[in-house]
Amino acid sequence: MNQQIHHICHTPLQDDVSHHPIGVFDSGIGGLTVVAALQKHLPHENIIYIGDTARVPYGGKSQATVTRYSQEITTLLLAEKAKMIVIACNTASALALPTLTNFYSLPIHGVIEPGAFAAVKATRNGRIGVIGTRATIASQAYQEAIYRFSQNAHVLSSACPLLVPLVEEGLFEDEITRRVLERYLEPLLLQRIDTLVLGCTHYPLLKKLIANIIGPDVTLVDSAENCAMTVQSLLEKNHLARKEAAPSHLEVLLTDTSEDFLHIAAHALHIKIAKVRISTLE
Ligand code: DGL
Repeated sequence: MNQQIHHICHTPLQDDVSHHPIGVFDSGIGGLTVVAALQKHLPHENIIYIGDTARVPYGGKSQATVTRYSQEITTLLLAEKAKMIVIACNTASALALPTLTNFYSLPIHGVIEPGAFAAVKATRNGRIGVIGTRATIASQAYQEAIYRFSQNAHVLSSACPLLVPLVEEGLFEDEITRRVLERYLEPLLLQRIDTLVLGCTHYPLLKKLIANIIGPDVTLVDSAENCAMTVQSLLEKNHLARKEAAPSHLEVLLTDTSEDFLHIAAHALHIKIAKVRISTLE
């Protein structure tokens, strides 16, 4: 990834692409948590978001399949003139980022490294918990990224496959969600983690409930928030930040209809969507 960024730094741009949108993609709608964080840190950037709602969830799929889907969606974002790509999906970041950065020449950024870096900065006892989909946890991508930043860290991870459907039903503060979360988090708390990485697009929507269960002594690390801060500095460093301080707009492209969760997520995250398009992949 860094090689790509250097390439952009040292190659004079033929064309000023700074006014082009940031391309963000996710397996579905959950990646709007990353959009909300990007809008907070980069209020003047236009965003084109693709949610692969026809093929969600990615969280139980193989690396080959997630990589193929991610390549197809990235190609769609290029056709939409994205100036850089943000992989909002933790599963796609964990499984497909290396292939995508080899394949395309524009900057591509995932959510794993920023989350791992923030966790290493936050921990005091070196014991970091990570929660995510089955595929993210099995890939050990967070583990490897955390060890790259700190060889002394001890990573304890847990796959939480029931959380995505609960969030998609809008059960952010429901008793059922609380009990499921307690079941997933208790083993990590028993292992004395002092930092917990929310390694899935959907989990920032459960922040309140999670914070309540883990208590004030465990620091929550939101990968979406840390990814947005990294994208902000990358755009500035590469002279890709939009120059006009004009209002921005968000366009959402879905590969199948998903009206309910789109509405629930946009409302919960206070996101205004200028336009929604449905585009089948065939
Ligand atoms: N977007 C996925 C992630 O962040 C969660 C939903 C899915 O399984 O596709 O890992």
